[in-house]
Amino acid sequence: MEFILYEVDGAVATITINRPKALNALNSQVLDELNATLDAVDLNTVRCLILTGAGDKSFVAGADIGEMSTLTKAEGEAFGKKGNDVFRKLEKFPIPVIAAVNGFALGGGCEISMSCDIRICSDNAVFGQPEVGLGITPGFGGTQRLARLVSPGMAKQLIYTARNIKAEEAYRIGLVNAVYPQEELIPAAQKMAAGIAAQAPIAVRNCKKAIDDGLQVSIDEAIVIEEKLFGDCFETEDQKAGMGNFLAPKDQKVKVVEFKNC
Ligand code: CAA
Repeated sequence: MEFILYEVDGAVATITINRPKALNALNSQVLDELNATLDAVDLNTVRCLILTGAGDKSFVAGADIGEMSTLTKAEGEAFGKKGNDVFRKLEKFPIPVIAAVNGFALGGGCEISMSCDIRICSDNAVFGQPEVGLGITPGFGGTQRLARLVSPGMAKQLIYTARNIKAEEAYRIGLVNAVYPQEELIPAAQKMAAGIAAQAPIAVRNCKKAIDDGLQVSIDEAIVIEEKLFGDCFETEDQKAGMGNFLAPKDQKVKVVEFKNC
């Protein structure tokens, strides 16, 4: 891999988009490598993913403008599909993904962060969808996910005006969950990821699926989805271990249940 770093530390894996000379802009090769990296994650051991960008200036400064500049209509559509397919894979990834946004998250950078379950950022982060200033629309899901994550009115304002926003404003509108001094961002992401990875993995995966699938349908259908995923947790070793520990006599309880993912 030329542009992706992949590190595993216990049950937490970190994917770093590593093209700092171009502020980690997404060209076709980066997208292909990201796709292959996701396919290679060992879901038997990894329970939470962190996605970040190399360097201290940029998370991802968007899709590669040089590569896009000469595309035909058909090629533009195909490039949009390429990005969308990878981002959708990330969004539907069975385990939680935390975006640790360490600087510019513009265009495709904002869009890839929105494909993650949780966004936290450094105090130098800048978010935005500047595409209309380049003569295009957001093309890796920005028109859809920003409107769903913040509000249609706020998404439209940001997208129509191509205005970038700083970390504090991203926090205020609910685009990120928390803002950290730069040096504290990755430790905070790792701490959160470890906290997620320590929970019962089947239950965590089912929560992700219940929330994501439920948001796509009516509340009545969503409740049925939840019931099935709730039921699915029963008879697992992890459910027996978690509830068994709760019900055990005080002197036999353990502080941290070691969930086995089965
Ligand atoms: N594509 C290709 N190259 C990029 C890039 C991008 N999106 N963003 C930055 N780079 C490159 C620059 O061309 C420059 O390369 P050279 O050193 O070879 O000239 C290098 O990264 C450093 O960038 P700057 O010199 O511009 O750095 P800066 O600190 O002055 O500015 C910035 C930083 C404000 C992020 C500026 O680089 C910028 O505006 N980048 C483009 C942001 C953008 O418009 N993103 C949206 C792209 S469109 C998109 O993503 C469509 C979609 O939805 C799929």
